[in-house]
Order: sequence, then structure tokens, then C-alpha cells
Amino acid sequence: METFEGRVAVITGAASGIGLAYAQLLGGLGMHLVLADIEVGALQAARDSIGDHAASVSTVVCDVSDGSSVSALADATFDTHHTVHLLCNNAGVSVTRSLITATTADWQWMLGVNVWGVIHGIQSFVPRMIERGEPGHVVNTCSIASWTVMPGYGMYSATKHATAAISEALLGDLQAAGAAIGVTAVCPSLVRTRLFSADRNRPEDLRDDPGTDGPSSSDEQDRIDAITDGIQTPADVAAVMLEGVRADQLWVFPNRDRLDFVRQRFDRILS
Ligand SMILES: NC(=O)c1ccc[n+]([C@@H]2O[C@H](COP(=O)([O-])OP(=O)(O)OC[C@H]3O[C@@H](n4cnc5c(N)ncnc54)[C@H](O)[C@@H]3O)[C@@H](O)[C@H]2O)c1
Repeated sequence: METFEGRVAVITGAASGIGLAYAQLLGGLGMHLVLADIEVGALQAARDSIGDHAASVSTVVCDVSDGSSVSALADATFDTHHTVHLLCNNAGVSVTRSLITATTADWQWMLGVNVWGVIHGIQSFVPRMIERGEPGHVVNTCSIASWTVMPGYGMYSATKHATAAISEALLGDLQAAGAAIGVTAVCPSLVRTRLFSADRNRPEDLRDDPGTDGPSSSDEQDRIDAITDGIQTPADVAAVMLEGVRADQLWVFPNRDRLDFVRQRFDRILS
């Protein structure tokens, strides 16, 4: 996809971090933006921060883990714009906890947002994009954790491995269907965002069982905020995402310095 001005982008998790940076960049290119997020106040602030830079900005409160909520987002988007060119399945959450103590609620929340969120985005938008017959693109925010595994991040890695597989398979299916829709899987490493205080949006019914251990969300955010070495900004990631979409590249790694971890892992696997 090479033309952006006047075209329509939908971004989930658009109220903060990487999603907000996507919105700011794409809005600056003159796209119509549909910003979706579960955090109502932050979503409003995101819209205000973009102001007049985009062709238009609308917001939809949406829980990507809920298929009917994503379907309503698609209906609202097609009712207003009649088309979608760029779908960014970006919303994500993180729980840092050993798999030995991870609770069912932890797994359900992580799988719901990080994996089902992407699946719901594909189900609700891609058939309608194909039907429109216009060139388009799907961006899935994956992670370096789609290719690496670290203690404490097992659940996160599992969900991000799934989104990488889904991205690659989706591209194959789109090509087999003859659709002019590309796929880019963005695989950032550490980025300065609010991901590690994702608990702020955790539904009550999926909160931790009392008595389980593990670092609190705010401890983990403080630890990550203190890291300076190799950490990127959301704007860095957005710029590399855009290059990937323009070049129709499946895999993009905003911080290529971190690829050694991936190579080392595959060397271990294949040795
Ligand atoms: N920050 C990093 O180091 C990093 C690295 C690699 C990949 N990622 C990925 O980037 C994506 C964006 O995360 P971020 O780092 O910008 O974090 P962030 O917390 O700053 O932004 C995530 C956004 O998703 C929204 N969200 C959470 N649950 C939702 C739900 N159920 N429905 C709709 N929206 C929901 C949040 O309200 C928030 O606005 C995620 O998929 C994350 O896994 C982040």
C-alpha cells in the first residue's frame, strides 16, 4: 500500500503507546482515522492530541477480546466510511509471571486481548475489505517475543508467537484468494509505553485470584521505566511500521540490534 491520503485506517489500542504513535503518523499523512480502545478517557485524549492533523478522527470504545464489540467497531467504520484500507490489530496487554503460578484468569485475559483480539479483527474486517476490492493492508503488532522466550514472560511469548503465525498464515490465505491486501507483522523489542501497567484495563472478573504471587503491575512498569539501554519510542516503531507497509514487507523488526537473541535461539533449536 503506497497511498495513504484520504484512505481509512482503523487502529485498536490507539489510546496509548504504539497505537497512538501509529495514529499520529497516519493522521499526519492525511488518513481518516478510526481509533478504538477500551480506556475511555485516554481514547478521548488521543483524539484531542491528533486534532486537525488527520482527514478525520472518530473514536469507538471497543474491547478487542469480545467478538461482538469488534464486530460493532467494523459496523460503525463501514457505516461512516464504507471502506477500510489499513487495519492495525495493535491492542495488547502483558502479565509478567512464571507459568508455575500463572492463573487461569491471567491466561484468559492475555489470550483474550492478544490473540482473540487479532482474530476478531481479521474476522470482522478482512472479508469486508476483500469484498470492497480495494488495495489494503493488515498490520499486526507482534513482538520480538514472537521469536524469543524468557522466564516470566511465557504467557506473553505464547500469545505473541500465535500472532506471528496468524500473520504469516493470513498473508498466504490472502494471496491464495487473490486479494490485493498485504500483511505486516511488526516485531518491536522494548518500547517506552504503558504496557507494563496494562492491569489498569484488566476486567474485574479476570483479576488475579487472591493469594497468587508475582510482581505487581506497577513494580514491573517502574522496572521497565528505569531501563534506558536499547529502549525505543513508540514513534520509532510507527516509522518502521510505515516503511514495512509501503514496501509490503511481512516481517519488520524496529530494533534490529535485538535480532541476535532470535538468531541465538534458532541456533539452539536447530543445533
Ligand atoms: N511496549 C513494548 O515494549 C512492546 C514491545 C513489543 C510489542 N508490544 C505490543 O505493542 C502493542 C501496543 O502496546 P503498547 O506497548 O503501546 O502498550 P500501551 O499499554 O501503552 O497501549 C496498549 C493499548 O491497548 C489498549 N487495550 C488494552 N486492552 C484492550 C482491550 N481489551 N481492547 C481494546 N484496547 C485495549 C490499552 O488501553 C492501551 O491504550 C501491544 O500489542 C504490545 O504487546 C509492546
